Amino acid sequence: MEKIMEFDSVELSVDGREVVILDQTLLPLDEKFVTLTTAEDAFDAIRLLKVRGAPAIGIAAASVLAMCMNRFSGDDSAPFEREFVRVKDLLCSARPTAVNLKWALERMERRYREYCRTCGNTTSISTDELRRALTQEARDIKREDISMCESIAENGLTLLKPGCGILTHCNAGHLAVSRFGTALAPVYLAQQRGYAPRVFADETRPLLQGARLTAYELMKAGVDTTLICDNMASLVMSRGEVDAVMVGCDRVAANGDVANKIGTGGLAILARYYGIPFYVLGPSSTIDMNCPTGRDIIIEERPAYEVTDMHYLQPRAPLGVKVYNPAFDITPAALVTALVTDKGIFRR
Ligand code: MRU
Repeated sequence: MEKIMEFDSVELSVDGREVVILDQTLLPLDEKFVTLTTAEDAFDAIRLLKVRGAPAIGIAAASVLAMCMNRFSGDDSAPFEREFVRVKDLLCSARPTAVNLKWALERMERRYREYCRTCGNTTSISTDELRRALTQEARDIKREDISMCESIAENGLTLLKPGCGILTHCNAGHLAVSRFGTALAPVYLAQQRGYAPRVFADETRPLLQGARLTAYELMKAGVDTTLICDNMASLVMSRGEVDAVMVGCDRVAANGDVANKIGTGGLAILARYYGIPFYVLGPSSTIDMNCPTGRDIIIEERPAYEVTDMHYLQPRAPLGVKVYNPAFDITPAALVTALVTDKGIFRR
C-alpha cells in the first residue's frame, strides 16, 4: 500500500533513546513533532491526547518503555526491574478504555520475563541484552501494526464499491495507528485504486477528532471529504448519501460489543434504522477475550472544560454547570454488521 503521509505519528529513534510523536492537539494548524525522553512526559502526552487512537497509544507506550530502559543507567537486575515495572504501571494508568495500551505493555513484560527465564538465574542477566530485546519488541509491535492495517485495508475494501459514500466518526486513520489507519485504511486503498470514495466525517464533539484530524488527513490524501456536525448524520443518511458506516474501536469485548468514541453507538442505531451496514474495523490486538461484554469495559471520563470551554473563544456554558463527559460509548454487538480485522471479516 502506498504511504499516506511522509511521517508516522509515533517513532522510536534509531538509537532507541527518544520517542518522537506528532502533537495531535495542534492539528490541523501546526504539524509539530514532540520528542519524549521521560515516562512522565509520555504519560502526559497520552493523557492529553497529544498521541491518541487505540493502536497508536499502545505503540507509543511500548516505545517509551523501551526508551526509558535504554536511558536507565544501572546494570543491576533488581533496580532495572523496579524501573521497568514503575514505567509500565505509570503508562498503563494513562487511559483506561483502549485495550491496546495494556496489550502492548503486557507484551513488553512477556518479552522481559521470557529473556529472564532463558538466563536461568538473576546473576546471568545482561541488562544490555534485555535493553536490546525490549527495543526490538517495541519495533516489532509497530511493524506488526502496520501490516495489520494493510490487511484491514484489503479486507475492508471488499465491502466498498466505486463512488460509495462512507460515514466515519472520530479519527481511525493514519494518525491513530502506526500507518494507514483502521476504519480509514480501506478508504485510502479505495482512493489509490481509483474508486473515488466520498467520506462524511463527523466532527466528533467535544474534542473534534473528526474535524481536526480525519478531515485533515483525508484531504491530504486527496479524498473527497465532507465535514458534518455529529447531529447531521441522520439527515445525510436519510438522503441516501451513505452506503456504509466505518468506525474504529478501542476495545471489542468477547461477545462482540464495541467500545469506541462517544457518539458511535448513536450512529449504529441510525444506521440500523436506515438499513445502512455498520462496520467496525480494528486490529486483532483490540479484541479483549478477557472482557466478557461491553458492560465490563471501563469508560474513561474526561474533564468538564473539554465540553464547556475547549475549542471555544469564550466559555459556552454557565460557570459551574454540571458536566458529564464520557469519552467512549458501547455499541451492542447486535448493531454491528461486521467486524473487519486483519484476520478477516466476521459477521454475526
Ligand atoms: O480519545 P481518542 O481520540 O483516543 O479516541 C479514539 C477513537 O475512539 C478511535 O475511533 C479508536 O481509537 C480507533 S483508532 C484506530
